[in-house]
Amino acid sequence: MTEAQAILVHVEAGVLTLTFNRLDKKNAITTAMYTSLADALTEAATDSAVRAVVIQGHEQIFTAGNDLADFKKNPPSADQMESMPVFRFLEALRTFPKPLVAAVSGPAVGIGTTLLLHCDLVYAGDNAAFSLPFVNLGLCPEAGASLLLPAQVGYLRAAEKLMLGEAFYAEEAVDMGLVNRILPPHEVAGYAQAQALKLAAKPAESLRITKALMKQAHPSLSAVMKQEFSHFGELLRGPAAKEAISAVMEKRRPDFSKL
Ligand code: COA
Repeated sequence: MTEAQAILVHVEAGVLTLTFNRLDKKNAITTAMYTSLADALTEAATDSAVRAVVIQGHEQIFTAGNDLADFKKNPPSADQMESMPVFRFLEALRTFPKPLVAAVSGPAVGIGTTLLLHCDLVYAGDNAAFSLPFVNLGLCPEAGASLLLPAQVGYLRAAEKLMLGEAFYAEEAVDMGLVNRILPPHEVAGYAQAQALKLAAKPAESLRITKALMKQAHPSLSAVMKQEFSHFGELLRGPAAKEAISAVMEKRRPDFSKL
């Protein structure tokens, strides 16, 4: 399978569907996949044939988050931020003017959870497992999560999820306000698609303005995302992240005792 096919891009009846399709690596997202996602969203933002977008994985896995080998090869760099595919993807998400619907089944790790903070509707399988393991990897939040998560779920819950990095499940995610509705995993994609079709039939300009009005609650989001990106890149080059990522890849516990 080529990297390009690792993101499936399909437009039908006004709905663009982006599917993580790298099952052998649990849909871990590579630089090439961020490029495909960024390109598809950037084009869709101004393509009148696209009126809503669905982001989905598969029934057993949404995404294992950033590809860990890629983290080592292409760590985010503040100097080249604007041209980096992951940053382009996050900017495309942050500024996307049309409805974004997510269908999440199975694990949604790291950016798999933080990207949901930019979606307008989120549907989850009863097997969904969300996690924000940034601190455990010697990193810090990204995608605006340090601002959006406390705003969406409250400071204490956000701190628990971002500082301890433990997985949480669909019911808690609904209770927190991170997910709209829980469904059997085999129904999630179909339900998300149906909701996107409903949105695609509505007056596009009314939706655009409604979304823009709601999203203006966070005028500092762009600046926060840049700060996060810069800290994330520095931390990724540091000893804690090196130890943590090696430990994940070697399937052992990390040792932070000397750090
Ligand atoms: N980057 C690169 N490869 C990854 C990956 C990632 N983030 N997550 C999983 N993989 C690969 C594994 O290395 C393994 O590859 P291999 O078959 O060549 O050895 C394959 O995907 C299957 O992973 P495995 O861990 O055996 O699957 P699982 O079903 O037991 O667990 C997860 C699934 C998602 C819970 C688990 O893979 C995981 O926690 N991954 C790391 C997530 C992470 O830390 N992401 C970074 C977030 S910032």
